[in-house]
Amino acid sequence: MKTASIIGAAGYTGGELVRLLLDHPHVRVASVTSRSLAGQPLHRTHPNLRGRSELLFTTPDQVQPSDVLFLCMPHGEAAKQIEQWASIAPLVIDLSADFRLRDPAAYRMWYESDHPAPGRLASAIYGLPELSRTRLRESAGPRLISGVGCNATAMNLALLPLARAGLIERVICDIKVGSSEGGAEATQGSHHPERSGAVRMYSTAGHRHTGEVLQELGQMQLDVSITSIEMVRGVACTAHVIPTRRVESKELWKLYRAAYADEPFVRLVAEKTGLHRLPDPKILSGSNYADVGFDIDPRSGRIIAMSAIDNLMKGAAGSAVQAMNIALDLPETLGLTFPGLHPI
Ligand SMILES: NC(=O)c1ccc[n+]([C@@H]2O[C@H](COP(=O)([O-])OP(=O)(O)OC[C@H]3O[C@@H](n4cnc5c(N)ncnc54)[C@H](OP(=O)(O)O)[C@@H]3O)[C@@H](O)[C@H]2O)c1
Repeated sequence: MKTASIIGAAGYTGGELVRLLLDHPHVRVASVTSRSLAGQPLHRTHPNLRGRSELLFTTPDQVQPSDVLFLCMPHGEAAKQIEQWASIAPLVIDLSADFRLRDPAAYRMWYESDHPAPGRLASAIYGLPELSRTRLRESAGPRLISGVGCNATAMNLALLPLARAGLIERVICDIKVGSSEGGAEATQGSHHPERSGAVRMYSTAGHRHTGEVLQELGQMQLDVSITSIEMVRGVACTAHVIPTRRVESKELWKLYRAAYADEPFVRLVAEKTGLHRLPDPKILSGSNYADVGFDIDPRSGRIIAMSAIDNLMKGAAGSAVQAMNIALDLPETLGLTFPGLHPI
């Protein structure tokens, strides 16, 4: 058995990690931290875990040395104390944006501040298994894996086959997101009368996740707009791609199949008919699947690449557990096979 501890376990991604790891056959959860809830039982904050664990929250300085340490803190917190976290576990997986960009200059550009631990950036592994499986599996010694932005995950997976084929002249990603993307702490925007029923432009241009997609898929003309909609979990990405040349549907099928045929958590959803012919995050709640689809506008030649994920799963905790499985040389799908619910 491997041991895992979670810093920031009272939050949404932390809670999702505990849920996954309590069911994981090769992992025992050693400690879960919350500064504000230290001493309280886990289930008081995550009621879905009632009866599944006797764990109490501890403060971060009481965390047990573990085989794996997950960091689920707000942006900027993990990097401040990364040496301390690395001394607790040989494998650290940080779900925040702190270690996603390898270039300190790119970090300064997208996050408008200097990185507190720039020396750690180049060796951190971008934790999207579909992009980094070999590095996750083969890197030796103490490791730092970065989680992937949930919106970036949706863009990366929708666009990867087109980017690899050099087919993207220009792309505009229109992304719809649910409220849990904002984390467990209430804000004015998450107040029920303000949030319920909203179709609110959240970011019209320059979203920070753009930087990681450009890093991973290569430089391209990429614009991103994000809208908050009435949904708790979920990201839906519609990428409008102006291609470098005209393509037919048959070629797209070939490219997407080649990219994803062997991927355990990416499903192609691009059917001609039926209610569920294209990706929809509603049916992915709680599941680690990413559904990816595509279509072509026969008039203009525009490619419409689509993806749907649960932001807390494939967009955060699910991918982190998948990356952990690979890094620990365990079967990649362990603890992650829940298919989601229908109807929900
Ligand atoms: N929500 C998503 O969909 C999503 C998806 C992908 C990535 N992420 C990233 O994952 C990280 C966590 O997100 P989340 O949504 O889980 O946030 P969250 O719900 O706000 O939870 C964050 C937790 O971190 C703890 N914390 C805050 N500052 C800390 C510090 N200095 N030291 C130790 N613990 C601290 C807080 O608990 P205490 O104050 O009680 O300690 C809190 O419960 C963020 O960086 C976020 O950008 C989120």
